[in-house]
Amino acid sequence: MDRISTGVAGLDTMLGGGLIPRRPYVVSGPTGSGKTILAMHFLAEGLGRGEAGLMVTLDEPPNEVKSNLSAFGWNLDRLKMLDATPDIKAHKRQRSVIDVGTTLDVRDMEQVGEIRQSSGIRALEVSVHGIQKMLKQEYFGHLERTKQPYKRIVVDSLTALKMFSMQGEDSRIMIQSFLRFLSELEATCLIVSERLKPTVIETEFFLARGEIRFHKWLDGNVIRRAISIEKYRGSRFDDRIRPITITNAGITVDSQGSVSLTAGRLAKLGDAYLEQRIGDEVSTVIERVMKLIEEANKMRVSASDVEHGISRAMLHLHRKNYQKALKTALNAQSVLRERLDRAKQGLPPPPPRAVPPPPGVRK
Ligand SMILES: Nc1ncnc2c1ncn2[C@@H]1O[C@H](COP(=O)(O)OP(=O)(O)O)[C@@H](O)[C@H]1O
Ligand SMILES: [Mg+2]
Repeated sequence: MDRISTGVAGLDTMLGGGLIPRRPYVVSGPTGSGKTILAMHFLAEGLGRGEAGLMVTLDEPPNEVKSNLSAFGWNLDRLKMLDATPDIKAHKRQRSVIDVGTTLDVRDMEQVGEIRQSSGIRALEVSVHGIQKMLKQEYFGHLERTKQPYKRIVVDSLTALKMFSMQGEDSRIMIQSFLRFLSELEATCLIVSERLKPTVIETEFFLARGEIRFHKWLDGNVIRRAISIEKYRGSRFDDRIRPITITNAGITVDSQGSVSLTAGRLAKLGDAYLEQRIGDEVSTVIERVMKLIEEANKMRVSASDVEHGISRAMLHLHRKNYQKALKTALNAQSVLRERLDRAKQGLPPPPPRAVPPPPGVRK
Protein backbone atom coordinates (compact mmCIF):
# COMPACT_ATOMS: atom_id res chain seq x y z
CA MET A 1 0.00 0.00 0.00
CA ASP A 2 1.15 3.53 -0.77
CA ARG A 3 2.11 5.55 2.27
CA ILE A 4 2.57 9.27 2.75
CA SER A 5 5.69 10.27 4.64
CA THR A 6 5.17 12.62 7.57
CA GLY A 7 8.63 14.07 6.95
CA VAL A 8 9.84 12.57 10.24
CA ALA A 9 11.54 9.23 9.58
CA GLY A 10 11.09 7.82 13.08
CA LEU A 11 7.40 8.66 13.05
CA ASP A 12 6.95 6.98 9.67
CA THR A 13 8.47 3.88 11.23
CA MET A 14 5.98 4.04 14.10
CA LEU A 15 3.18 4.39 11.55
CA GLY A 16 4.20 1.21 9.76
CA GLY A 17 5.63 3.20 6.82
CA GLY A 18 3.65 6.44 6.93
CA LEU A 19 0.11 7.71 6.62
CA ILE A 20 -2.51 6.06 4.47
CA PRO A 21 -3.25 8.71 1.83
CA ARG A 22 -6.36 10.83 1.42
CA ARG A 23 -7.59 10.60 4.97
CA PRO A 24 -7.84 13.05 7.86
CA TYR A 25 -5.69 12.58 10.97
CA VAL A 26 -5.59 14.40 14.27
CA VAL A 27 -2.37 15.71 15.81
CA SER A 28 -2.89 16.35 19.53
CA GLY A 29 -0.85 17.42 22.52
CA PRO A 30 -0.26 20.32 24.89
CA THR A 31 1.05 23.74 23.88
CA GLY A 32 4.69 23.73 22.91
CA SER A 33 4.85 19.99 22.41
CA GLY A 34 5.70 20.04 18.70
CA LYS A 35 2.39 19.90 16.81
CA THR A 36 3.02 22.84 14.50
CA ILE A 37 6.57 21.73 13.81
CA LEU A 38 5.31 18.28 12.81
CA ALA A 39 2.67 19.86 10.58
CA MET A 40 5.40 21.82 8.83
CA HIS A 41 7.62 18.73 8.43
CA PHE A 42 4.67 17.09 6.72
CA LEU A 43 4.04 20.02 4.37
CA ALA A 44 7.73 20.60 3.60
CA GLU A 45 8.15 16.90 2.79
CA GLY A 46 5.36 17.22 0.24
CA LEU A 47 6.75 20.42 -1.28
CA GLY A 48 10.09 18.66 -1.71
CA ARG A 49 8.28 16.03 -3.75
CA GLY A 50 6.51 18.62 -5.86
CA GLU A 51 3.20 18.10 -4.09
CA ALA A 52 1.06 21.16 -3.49
CA GLY A 53 0.46 21.96 0.17
CA LEU A 54 -2.07 24.11 1.96
CA MET A 55 -2.07 25.31 5.54
CA VAL A 56 -5.01 26.95 7.26
CA THR A 57 -3.65 28.77 10.25
CA LEU A 58 -5.94 29.73 13.11
CA ASP A 59 -3.54 30.17 16.03
CA GLU A 60 -1.03 32.60 14.58
CA PRO A 61 -0.95 34.67 11.40
CA PRO A 62 1.11 33.18 8.52
CA ASN A 63 4.07 35.55 8.88
CA GLU A 64 4.41 34.65 12.56
CA VAL A 65 4.21 30.93 11.81
CA LYS A 66 6.90 31.32 9.17
CA SER A 67 9.19 33.37 11.35
CA ASN A 68 8.79 30.97 14.29
CA LEU A 69 9.87 28.14 12.03
CA SER A 70 12.65 29.96 10.19
CA ALA A 71 15.36 28.14 12.21
CA PHE A 72 14.47 24.87 10.51
CA GLY A 73 15.49 26.10 7.07
CA TRP A 74 12.51 24.76 5.18
CA ASN A 75 11.72 26.34 1.85
CA LEU A 76 8.09 27.27 2.28
CA ASP A 77 7.83 29.67 -0.67
CA ARG A 78 5.41 27.44 -2.48
CA LEU A 79 3.29 26.73 0.59
CA LYS A 80 -0.13 28.31 0.41
CA MET A 81 -1.22 29.64 3.78
CA LEU A 82 -4.73 30.79 4.56
CA ASP A 83 -5.04 33.22 7.42
CA ALA A 84 -8.04 32.26 9.51
CA THR A 85 -6.83 33.73 12.76
CA PRO A 86 -9.87 35.00 14.59
CA ASP A 87 -9.60 38.65 15.37
CA ILE A 88 -9.69 37.89 19.05
CA LYS A 89 -6.95 40.14 20.31
CA ALA A 90 -8.60 43.28 19.02
CA HIS A 91 -11.85 42.43 20.75
CA LYS A 92 -10.34 41.14 23.94
CA ARG A 93 -9.36 44.56 25.18
CA GLN A 94 -12.89 45.85 25.12
CA ARG A 95 -15.13 42.90 25.64
CA SER A 96 -15.69 39.88 27.80
CA VAL A 97 -14.90 36.42 26.48
CA ILE A 98 -18.56 35.73 25.85
CA ASP A 99 -18.83 38.77 23.65
CA VAL A 100 -15.68 37.81 21.83
CA GLY A 101 -17.31 34.48 21.01
CA THR A 102 -20.10 36.19 19.19
CA THR A 103 -17.88 38.57 17.30
CA LEU A 104 -15.28 36.12 16.02
CA ASP A 105 -14.08 37.17 12.66
CA VAL A 106 -12.56 34.98 10.01
CA ARG A 107 -10.50 37.00 7.58
CA ASP A 108 -10.02 36.30 3.88
CA MET A 109 -13.61 35.26 3.51
CA GLU A 110 -16.48 36.78 1.69
CA GLN A 111 -19.17 34.45 2.90
CA VAL A 112 -18.99 35.18 6.58
CA GLY A 113 -21.44 38.05 6.54
CA GLU A 114 -24.03 35.96 4.85
CA ILE A 115 -23.57 33.04 7.25
CA ARG A 116 -23.53 35.19 10.34
CA GLN A 117 -26.81 36.79 9.44
CA SER A 118 -28.68 33.51 9.29
CA SER A 119 -30.41 33.12 12.59
CA GLY A 120 -29.36 30.99 15.49
CA ILE A 121 -25.88 30.07 14.31
CA ARG A 122 -23.31 30.60 16.99
CA ALA A 123 -19.72 31.64 16.71
CA LEU A 124 -18.15 28.21 16.38
CA GLU A 125 -20.58 27.21 13.68
CA VAL A 126 -19.80 30.38 11.78
CA SER A 127 -16.15 29.63 12.10
CA VAL A 128 -16.08 25.93 11.28
CA HIS A 129 -18.53 26.45 8.48
CA GLY A 130 -16.60 29.51 7.33
CA ILE A 131 -13.32 27.64 7.31
CA GLN A 132 -14.87 24.80 5.39
CA LYS A 133 -16.11 27.25 2.75
CA MET A 134 -12.79 29.02 2.59
CA LEU A 135 -10.95 25.72 2.17
CA LYS A 136 -13.39 24.51 -0.43
CA GLN A 137 -12.97 27.68 -2.45
CA GLU A 138 -9.16 27.49 -2.30
CA TYR A 139 -9.06 23.74 -3.02
CA PHE A 140 -11.25 23.84 -6.10
CA GLY A 141 -9.84 27.18 -7.28
CA HIS A 142 -6.35 25.71 -7.13
CA LEU A 143 -7.48 22.54 -8.88
CA GLU A 144 -8.97 24.58 -11.69
CA ARG A 145 -5.93 26.85 -12.05
CA THR A 146 -3.24 24.17 -11.90
CA LYS A 147 -5.11 20.94 -12.73
CA GLN A 148 -3.33 19.55 -9.65
CA PRO A 149 -5.11 18.92 -6.37
CA TYR A 150 -3.60 19.87 -3.04
CA LYS A 151 -2.00 16.68 -1.76
CA ARG A 152 -1.41 17.80 1.81
CA ILE A 153 -3.59 20.02 3.95
CA VAL A 154 -3.07 21.15 7.54
CA VAL A 155 -5.59 22.88 9.80
CA ASP A 156 -3.73 24.37 12.79
CA SER A 157 -5.72 24.35 15.03
CA LEU A 158 -9.35 23.79 15.89
CA THR A 159 -8.70 24.55 19.56
CA ALA A 160 -8.61 28.34 19.44
CA LEU A 161 -12.04 28.34 17.87
CA LYS A 162 -13.47 26.21 20.59
CA MET A 163 -12.10 28.15 23.49
CA PHE A 164 -14.07 31.16 22.39
CA SER A 165 -17.19 29.36 21.36
CA MET A 166 -19.89 27.39 22.98
CA GLN A 167 -19.68 23.64 22.82
CA GLY A 168 -22.95 22.23 21.72
CA GLU A 169 -24.89 19.79 19.69
CA ASP A 170 -24.81 21.85 16.51
CA SER A 171 -21.10 22.45 16.78
CA ARG A 172 -20.47 18.71 16.84
CA ILE A 173 -22.60 18.30 13.75
CA MET A 174 -20.58 21.05 12.07
CA ILE A 175 -17.31 19.34 12.90
CA GLN A 176 -18.69 16.03 11.65
CA SER A 177 -19.53 17.66 8.38
CA PHE A 178 -16.11 19.34 8.20
CA LEU A 179 -14.30 16.03 8.70
CA ARG A 180 -16.50 14.38 6.11
CA PHE A 181 -15.70 17.18 3.68
CA LEU A 182 -11.96 16.69 4.27
CA SER A 183 -12.15 12.95 3.74
CA GLU A 184 -13.70 13.50 0.32
CA LEU A 185 -10.70 15.50 -0.93
CA GLU A 186 -7.64 14.09 -2.69
CA ALA A 187 -5.48 15.36 0.13
CA THR A 188 -4.07 13.76 3.24
CA CYS A 189 -5.05 16.09 6.08
CA LEU A 190 -3.64 16.83 9.50
CA ILE A 191 -5.94 18.53 11.98
CA VAL A 192 -4.18 19.96 14.97
CA SER A 193 -6.27 19.87 18.12
CA GLU A 194 -5.61 20.10 21.80
CA ARG A 195 -7.86 18.28 24.17
CA LEU A 196 -9.45 21.01 26.20
CA LYS A 197 -10.04 18.54 29.00
CA PRO A 198 -7.96 15.38 29.13
CA THR A 199 -10.95 13.11 29.60
CA VAL A 200 -13.17 14.72 27.00
CA ILE A 201 -12.91 13.21 23.57
CA GLU A 202 -13.73 15.90 21.03
CA THR A 203 -15.69 15.15 17.91
CA GLU A 204 -12.72 15.33 15.57
CA PHE A 205 -10.97 12.53 17.45
CA PHE A 206 -13.77 10.12 16.58
CA LEU A 207 -13.85 10.95 12.96
CA ALA A 208 -10.17 11.11 12.22
CA ARG A 209 -8.63 7.91 10.88
CA GLY A 210 -5.75 8.20 13.27
CA GLU A 211 -4.34 10.24 16.09
CA ILE A 212 -0.72 11.21 16.65
CA ARG A 213 -0.28 12.48 20.17
CA PHE A 214 2.52 14.59 21.60
CA HIS A 215 3.43 14.50 25.29
CA LYS A 216 5.38 17.09 27.22
CA TRP A 217 6.38 17.06 30.88
CA LEU A 218 8.86 18.47 33.31
CA ASP A 219 11.61 16.12 34.50
CA GLY A 220 13.43 18.04 37.24
CA ASN A 221 14.04 21.27 35.37
CA VAL A 222 14.26 19.71 31.92
CA ILE A 223 11.33 19.64 29.53
CA ARG A 224 10.89 16.19 28.03
CA ARG A 225 8.84 15.35 25.00
CA ALA A 226 7.46 12.13 23.58
CA ILE A 227 5.11 10.94 20.87
CA SER A 228 2.60 8.11 20.57
CA ILE A 229 0.12 6.77 18.05
CA GLU A 230 -3.24 6.63 19.78
CA LYS A 231 -5.20 5.19 16.94
CA TYR A 232 -4.55 4.23 13.35
CA ARG A 233 -7.34 2.64 11.36
CA GLY A 234 -6.35 0.12 8.76
CA SER A 235 -2.71 -0.15 9.69
CA ARG A 236 -0.36 -1.78 12.11
CA PHE A 237 1.50 0.70 14.29
CA ASP A 238 3.90 1.01 17.20
CA ASP A 239 1.70 1.43 20.27
CA ARG A 240 4.45 2.59 22.65
CA ILE A 241 5.36 6.10 23.70
CA ARG A 242 8.69 7.10 22.13
CA PRO A 243 10.96 9.95 23.17
CA ILE A 244 11.47 12.86 20.78
CA THR A 245 13.87 15.76 20.60
CA ILE A 246 13.45 19.10 18.83
CA THR A 247 16.54 20.76 17.37
CA ASN A 248 17.25 23.01 14.40
CA ALA A 249 16.83 19.90 12.27
CA GLY A 250 13.25 19.59 13.51
CA ILE A 251 11.71 16.64 15.29
CA THR A 252 13.67 13.43 15.78
CA VAL A 253 11.90 10.35 17.10
CA ASP A 254 13.88 7.72 18.93
CA SER A 255 11.82 4.86 17.60
CA GLN A 256 13.64 2.27 19.73
CA GLY A 257 13.73 4.40 22.86
CA SER A 258 11.50 4.12 25.85
CA VAL A 259 10.12 6.79 28.10
CA SER A 260 10.99 6.68 31.76
CA LEU A 261 8.55 8.50 33.92
CA THR A 262 8.16 9.05 37.60
CA ALA A 263 5.56 6.80 39.22
CA GLY A 264 2.99 9.57 39.65
CA ARG A 265 3.22 10.68 36.08
CA LEU A 266 3.03 7.12 34.85
CA ALA A 267 -0.10 6.43 36.87
CA LYS A 268 -1.75 9.50 35.41
CA LEU A 269 -0.85 8.46 31.91
CA GLY A 270 -2.10 4.94 32.66
CA ASP A 271 -5.54 6.21 33.62
CA ALA A 272 -5.76 8.36 30.55
CA TYR A 273 -4.80 5.38 28.45
CA LEU A 274 -7.44 3.10 29.90
CA GLU A 275 -10.03 5.80 29.42
CA GLN A 276 -8.89 6.23 25.86
CA ARG A 277 -9.11 2.54 25.07
CA ILE A 278 -12.69 2.26 26.37
CA GLY A 279 -13.60 5.35 24.41
CA ASP A 280 -12.02 3.76 21.38
CA GLU A 281 -14.38 0.79 21.54
CA VAL A 282 -17.37 3.07 21.35
CA SER A 283 -15.76 5.26 18.76
CA THR A 284 -15.40 2.28 16.43
CA VAL A 285 -19.19 1.93 16.39
CA ILE A 286 -19.61 5.67 15.98
CA GLU A 287 -17.25 5.67 13.03
CA ARG A 288 -19.14 2.85 11.40
CA VAL A 289 -22.35 4.85 11.69
CA MET A 290 -20.59 7.92 10.27
CA LYS A 291 -19.73 5.88 7.18
CA LEU A 292 -23.38 4.84 6.88
CA ILE A 293 -24.41 8.49 7.15
CA GLU A 294 -22.02 9.29 4.33
CA GLU A 295 -23.58 6.55 2.25
CA ALA A 296 -27.07 7.81 3.13
CA ASN A 297 -26.15 11.34 2.03
CA LYS A 298 -24.90 10.02 -1.30
CA MET A 299 -28.12 8.06 -1.80
CA ARG A 300 -30.17 11.06 -0.66
CA VAL A 301 -31.61 9.04 2.20
CA SER A 302 -32.42 11.24 5.17
CA ALA A 303 -30.12 10.72 8.14
CA SER A 304 -30.24 13.91 10.16
CA ASP A 305 -32.01 12.19 13.08
CA VAL A 306 -29.27 9.56 13.11
CA GLU A 307 -26.65 12.28 13.03
CA HIS A 308 -28.22 13.74 16.14
CA GLY A 309 -28.34 10.27 17.70
CA ILE A 310 -24.63 9.89 17.10
CA SER A 311 -23.99 13.26 18.57
CA ARG A 312 -25.87 12.14 21.62
CA ALA A 313 -23.72 9.03 21.85
CA MET A 314 -20.69 11.29 21.85
CA LEU A 315 -22.21 13.34 24.63
CA HIS A 316 -22.71 10.22 26.73
CA LEU A 317 -19.12 9.30 26.09
CA HIS A 318 -17.99 12.75 27.18
CA ARG A 319 -19.85 12.14 30.40
CA LYS A 320 -18.25 8.71 30.67
CA ASN A 321 -21.58 6.90 30.36
CA TYR A 322 -20.01 4.18 28.25
CA GLN A 323 -22.98 1.80 28.31
CA LYS A 324 -25.40 4.50 27.25
CA ALA A 325 -23.00 5.73 24.61
CA LEU A 326 -22.70 2.27 23.10
CA LYS A 327 -26.43 1.62 23.23
CA THR A 328 -27.24 4.93 21.57
CA ALA A 329 -24.67 4.36 18.85
CA LEU A 330 -25.87 0.81 18.15
CA ASN A 331 -29.47 2.01 18.01
CA ALA A 332 -28.54 4.70 15.49
CA GLN A 333 -26.70 2.08 13.48
CA SER A 334 -29.64 -0.30 13.29
CA VAL A 335 -32.10 2.47 12.40
CA LEU A 336 -29.93 3.66 9.55
CA ARG A 337 -29.06 0.17 8.30
CA GLU A 338 -32.73 -0.65 7.98
CA ARG A 339 -33.41 2.60 6.18
CA LEU A 340 -30.54 2.05 3.75
CA ASP A 341 -31.50 -1.56 3.07
CA ARG A 342 -35.00 -0.48 2.16
CA ALA A 343 -33.75 2.34 -0.02
CA LYS A 344 -31.50 -0.09 -1.91
CA GLN A 345 -34.47 -2.33 -2.58
CA GLY A 346 -36.48 0.64 -3.77
CA LEU A 347 -38.90 0.36 -0.85
CA PRO A 348 -40.40 3.39 0.87
CA PRO A 349 -38.70 4.41 4.12
CA PRO A 350 -39.71 2.40 7.21
CA PRO A 351 -42.11 4.00 9.67
CA PRO A 352 -40.22 6.40 11.92
CA ARG A 353 -38.44 4.78 14.81
CA ALA A 354 -37.47 7.31 17.36
CA VAL A 355 -33.87 8.30 17.69
CA PRO A 356 -34.54 10.55 20.68
CA PRO A 357 -33.06 14.03 20.47
CA PRO A 358 -30.09 14.73 22.67
CA PRO A 359 -30.72 16.31 26.04
CA GLY A 360 -30.95 20.06 25.93
CA VAL A 361 -31.65 20.35 22.22
CA ARG A 362 -34.48 22.58 21.24
CA LYS A 363 -36.54 21.63 18.26
N1 LIG B 1 14.86 25.76 16.58
C1 LIG B 1 14.42 25.11 17.66
N2 LIG B 1 15.23 24.32 18.36
C2 LIG B 1 14.79 23.66 19.45
N3 LIG B 1 13.54 23.73 19.90
C3 LIG B 1 12.68 24.53 19.25
C4 LIG B 1 13.06 25.26 18.09
N4 LIG B 1 11.99 25.94 17.65
C5 LIG B 1 10.99 25.65 18.50
N5 LIG B 1 11.39 24.80 19.45
C6 LIG B 1 10.59 24.23 20.54
O1 LIG B 1 9.57 23.45 19.99
C7 LIG B 1 8.42 23.60 20.78
C8 LIG B 1 7.19 23.12 20.03
O2 LIG B 1 6.80 24.03 19.07
P1 LIG B 1 5.39 23.93 18.33
O3 LIG B 1 5.40 22.86 17.32
O4 LIG B 1 5.11 25.29 17.82
O5 LIG B 1 4.38 23.57 19.51
P2 LIG B 1 2.78 23.38 19.47
O6 LIG B 1 2.55 21.98 19.92
O7 LIG B 1 2.25 24.37 20.45
O8 LIG B 1 2.34 23.65 18.06
C9 LIG B 1 8.46 25.04 21.20
O9 LIG B 1 7.79 25.25 22.40
C10 LIG B 1 9.94 25.30 21.37
O10 LIG B 1 10.30 25.07 22.71
MG1 LIG C 1 1.10 25.22 17.35
